[in-house]
This record gives sequence, structure tokens and C-alpha cells, in this order.
Amino acid sequence: MTRWLSIQEAINKERGDVAIRGWVWRERGSNALKFIVIRDSSSIIQCVIEKDKVPEDMWLAADKLRIEASVEIEGTIKEDKRAPTGFEVSVKKLQVIGESDNFPIAKDQSPEFLLDNRHLWLRSRKMTAILKIRSTYVQAREEFFRKEGFYKFDPPILQPNQSEGGSTLFEVKYYKDKTFLSQSWQLYAEAAVFALEKVYDFAPTFRAELSKTSRHLSEFWMAEMEAAWWNLKDVSEFAKKEIKYCLSAVLAKHEKDLIFLGQDAEKLKKVLAKDWPTIKYREAIKILKEKEGMDVSFGKDLRTIEEDALMNHFDTPIVVTHYPKEIMAFYKPADAQHPDEALCFDMLAPEGYGEIVGGSQRDTDIDALKESLEKMGEKPENYEWYLDLRKYGSVPHSGYGLGTERVLAWICHLDNIKDAIAFPRTALRWKP
Ligand code: 4AD
Ligand code: MG
Repeated sequence: MTRWLSIQEAINKERGDVAIRGWVWRERGSNALKFIVIRDSSSIIQCVIEKDKVPEDMWLAADKLRIEASVEIEGTIKEDKRAPTGFEVSVKKLQVIGESDNFPIAKDQSPEFLLDNRHLWLRSRKMTAILKIRSTYVQAREEFFRKEGFYKFDPPILQPNQSEGGSTLFEVKYYKDKTFLSQSWQLYAEAAVFALEKVYDFAPTFRAELSKTSRHLSEFWMAEMEAAWWNLKDVSEFAKKEIKYCLSAVLAKHEKDLIFLGQDAEKLKKVLAKDWPTIKYREAIKILKEKEGMDVSFGKDLRTIEEDALMNHFDTPIVVTHYPKEIMAFYKPADAQHPDEALCFDMLAPEGYGEIVGGSQRDTDIDALKESLEKMGEKPENYEWYLDLRKYGSVPHSGYGLGTERVLAWICHLDNIKDAIAFPRTALRWKP
């Protein structure tokens, strides 16, 4: 039986006979010599076929090979400094597995064209690198929460209530009724902490975002956690620890991929080694006023342009706490010392990547919760099950949600969040 090596394994072998399989990434040749570069999930390698040295039918097959045809190759590998990855396979046996004709993606195509052909563009070296990093990131996060003694808790995706504002809900016809796609697992996680105390999840999350920005998706993967007995400081510090753990796993395994994506891996290592500051919203608006000449009066949310201006003064992610209570989601409690401030936080990434985490302590005061719900035009009776949680042995608890694609966009230095997920959904795109 043939022992197939991945291209990277073949390269690691350096010399001798190898059997590899993959897809044609580049091809060129003359009437005596054909160069094909094969790719698989691990790497690429140049293969050379000489007309004089192979049977005629094999030469004809090789001559017909086009971009993205799939092949099995047996041959001898050796170092060749001129080849793209420093090695070359001299082909002895070639088997075409799947032909390919006129692969639609050539050089210099527009981002929209690539998005229309996303099912094919996934094979690009760029998307392959991003998807590998995403896979490592998600696995590291899983490890992190297990090590920290958390239970994985799966929330419902069809939910009767909003938690993050009615304007971004996706309504779903539900038999004779209606329901909504999850905007967050939070309200259910708050039920779960009374059983499991420390829970986390990783789940598809939906927001009907009309804002067409490089930071918003309509479907994204939120990575959330909730813990009984924890306060604002506990969770905001824990969020830094979580991201540092995952970033360090990515750096350990994907330095080459990061460099390929145009990221400066050395810079990320420095970010990892630094302390990430925590400031209050009031200090943030002071920085904006004094250093950026921007007037944000207390009570206004930080918009993208203000977040970006603030981050001109930091080269690591930062945590901003105590946003104005007035403009925060109903479950974020007022700070007893400063009732106009909420016990909440956002984490902002440097270099214009914006808010990557949002979280808070949770209000345990049932009357305050009802009042906040009414203020935003919600009927407290629709939240009865949630308010029940405050009636039977309620305890302080806190949690946050991290936008996986936002963090990956930052780590991978992407221009647009759409490249941080395989098949992006936005207000304008739900295909392929
Ligand atoms: O700040 P958000 O809205 O917080 C919540 O939903 C809380 N219930 C989470 C919690 O406390 N358990 O969303 C959390 C994070 C944001 O910081 C952002 O990173 C990401 O989710 N996010 C989005 N990412 C991509 N596209 C969108 N439309 C996003 N909306 C939020
Ligand atoms: Mg937020």
C-alpha cells in the first residue's frame, strides 16, 4: 500500500522517494519540461516532469493538467533553492484523480468576486492560513476553559426574548408563533450558573446589523462565559487571560501563517508579554478630549471613530469599564458608589479592530431589572422565567462574550472581518 505523505512531511524528509497528493496550484511548461506546484493543506511543492523520462501517456496527462486538478504523485524529492518551498519532486508516476478546467479564480480579482466564489476561494493559501489559525484558536480556548474548571453549556439558539436590543433580532417563524435567533446565550447562561457555577460556550450568534462595516457580521461565533460569585474585576481580568492563552497558542503554532498574512509576529509576541491596561469610561473620554480634541459628553456611547482615536494611545488591547448606566443593556447593574455608571466592560483591540469583548456583572435587583426593561419598551412579564432567577437564592455573577471573528481579524491582521469566517453573512450577503 502506498504511504502518502503530506507535502510538509515530504519536505521534512528532504530526500528519497515520496508519494504525495493534492491539487495543482500553479503550472507552466515547455514541450519538454513541465513544472507543476502542488498544494495540500500542509504546504506547496514544485514537481517537475520531463518528457524524455516518463511514458508518453503520462506526459500527455501532465500536459493537460490545469489549475486545481487533483493528482497523486510518486517521485523523488531533493533540495532545490529555486523552488518556492526549497524542494522539488522529480515525478516518476502521476495519476490524475479529478480534472479541472477553467478554474474561475485567477489573479487580481475583486473582493466581491472572491466572496461570490467563496466555496472555491476557501482553497486559497490566504483562507487556508486563516482557517488553520481559527481552528487552533478555538481549540486553545476550549483547553483554557477546561483547565480553569468550567463546564461547557449549550444554550438554545431559538429564543423567545432579546438580550441585546430588539432592533437587531432575526425573527423566525415558529409553527403558529414566532421566535428569534440567539443574539447571545447570556440569559440562559445566567440560569445555568445556579447549577454549574462556571460555564462557557462557543455558538453561532445572530444580529440583523444594518451597519455595513468591516467589523459586523450578521452571523458570527460568540465565545461566552458566565460565572457565579464573580464580579466585574474578576471577569474583565479573566478575559485578558483567556485571549493571552489563545494568542500564545496561535503564536506557538502559526508564526509562518501569520507572516504570510502580513502580520508582524514579533509585534504580537510583545503584545502578549505586556500588561493590558484597564481604564474607566470617564478616563477614556478624558483622553479623547485632551489628546484627540474630541468632545464626548458623559452618557454617549463610544462610536467606532472614538474607539479608534482612543486606541491611538495604546498598543495592546485595553479594558474600558463603567460605561454610562443609561445607555447599557438592561441587565448591567449600576455601580452603588456611582449610580450613573454601570458595572460593565468592553475590551478594545489596537490598530482599529475595535470592540472584541463585551461583558458585565449582572443586575441581581429584580425591581431595577423590571424598571430597565420597561424603560426600553419591553414587557417584564415576557422575562418572567429570567426574573425567577433572582427569586431563589440569587448570587452575584458576571460574564462576557467575545467576538471570535473580531479577535481573529486582529490576530491575523485582516482588512475585513468577513475573512475571519468561512462563509460570511452580512446584510448584503447570505450566499454561497
Ligand atoms: O457586546 P455584545 O453585544 O455583548 C453581549 O451580547 C453580551 N450578552 C455578552 C455577554 O456578556 N455574555 O457582544 C459581545 C461581542 C462584542 O464585543 C463583539 O466582539 C462581538 O460580540 N460582536 C460581533 N461580532 C461580529 N459581528 C457582529 N455583528 C457583532 N456583534 C457583537
Ligand atoms: Mg458590546
